[in-house]
Amino acid sequence: MQDDQKKKLKLKVSAIKEGTVIDHIPAKNLFKVISILGLDSIENQITFGTNLESHKLGAKAIIKVTDKFFEDDEINKIALIAPHAKLNIIRDYEVVEKKVVEIPDTISGIVKCFNPKCITNNEQITTRFKVVAKDLISLKCKYCEKITNSNQIRMC
Ligand code: CTP
Ligand code: ZN
Repeated sequence: MQDDQKKKLKLKVSAIKEGTVIDHIPAKNLFKVISILGLDSIENQITFGTNLESHKLGAKAIIKVTDKFFEDDEINKIALIAPHAKLNIIRDYEVVEKKVVEIPDTISGIVKCFNPKCITNNEQITTRFKVVAKDLISLKCKYCEKITNSNQIRMC
């Protein structure tokens, strides 16, 4: 494909002047990412596209947040549901930095404990996990010590 043709396809969602572009989000998790990052309750301009073609993900989504620059620990919260997400930091229309998300060592909130008897599933308590494996994610509950595996993960 020619370069100018590629550019046009990419610009399905307009370029931004300053801010952060979060690319390579699995389309099915777009709204979870929006909620985890609190983008549903900030005043910045936000544009997004979803069900865009991606070789890696099948259907991907992209979010562009004007004038917002995330802290690493803030952005790493989406690693569980968007492990291949790439951040592009935009200054004066140029990509000045690219970052990947990293799975954190501990997770609070976001996912439920797999154990139905766990206190976090029976009382209003925020879940807390130690990440014991990062390749195929495995989370150890700080309350009941049971393991929640990647195929058992359900969002809070
Ligand atoms: N982008 C934007 N506004 C800008 C500059 C870039 O919204 N002023 C977006 C682009 O649309 C793209 C992403 O930021 O989705 C990354 O831009 P760029 O590095 O130019 O694209 P790629 O080379 O395709 O990056 P990668 O292959 O790492 O995804
Ligand atoms: Zn538990």
